[in-house]
Amino acid sequence: MRPITRLRSVRISTSAFDRSIEFYSKGFGLVLEDRNQDVAYFAGARNQSGILELHNGSHDALIGLTFTMATVEDLRTSHRFLSSRGFETKSAFAGEGIGFEVADPDGNRISFTLDDGIPDERPTDDGRPLFLSHVVLNSPDAAKLTSFFVDVLGFKIADRYEKDLLSFLRCAQKQHHCIGISPGPKASLNHFSVDLGGIDALMRGVGRMKKAGFEPIWGPGRHGPGGNVFCYYEDPSGFVPEFTCDVIQIDDEDKWVPKEWPRVPDIANVWGTGGPSKRAVELMSGHRGE
Ligand SMILES: [Fe+2]
Repeated sequence: MRPITRLRSVRISTSAFDRSIEFYSKGFGLVLEDRNQDVAYFAGARNQSGILELHNGSHDALIGLTFTMATVEDLRTSHRFLSSRGFETKSAFAGEGIGFEVADPDGNRISFTLDDGIPDERPTDDGRPLFLSHVVLNSPDAAKLTSFFVDVLGFKIADRYEKDLLSFLRCAQKQHHCIGISPGPKASLNHFSVDLGGIDALMRGVGRMKKAGFEPIWGPGRHGPGGNVFCYYEDPSGFVPEFTCDVIQIDDEDKWVPKEWPRVPDIANVWGTGGPSKRAVELMSGHRGE
């Protein structure tokens, strides 16, 4: 498997399609790039297109994630590698949309496409999301899913909470993690996170959300593992999008020693401004709708 350079996009199916388009383009601050009756595509405020795809569906579920690789040759080599390991792959290596797709052990569709360059990470004056930072997945077999990302796709464990309550995984980039895996009752999206480029921009985003009538379900605060500032919201179909910034950048891979963090309130939020609301726990844990 060749190195994965970044997490590029998250694709979700929503039963509240029109209201979600309004939520993400107005208060949340993404740029609506294109839409039809079935799909809506959102970009960041600068040069990152397609960071969120909303699919008009009868239920609310994660469809898949898109990661990038540096070259077409990396994509081809990785496609051959996964095929040789018995993974069923769909591929396209001609024309536009070069890349391939594979299902992870939980059935999430994991796509790979060509990296089109480092995102412009300068915050905007009005505090808008710039690029997709990370996602956290809930899994009924978190050890198996983690093994898929680490042993098959080549991710590295950056840090984890005690008792394997949440593992943070890094691809071939400096950012501490672009994916997290948490045990859950069923495969689901715990949350996804967009980076706003700085604390001031993040707080302007929080202000814009407030004016649009949306209060955080957790935050603002700062996490211990990953070091990032966070603020979590509830979207119209119960997905949890997060504003983030200041994720730790690992400059020297060889010197990084993954830690096992205690699962205590002052580690989950080192500012001490409070833990997740009951609603946040319900929505993020994967117990929703049970
Ligand atoms: Fe997060």
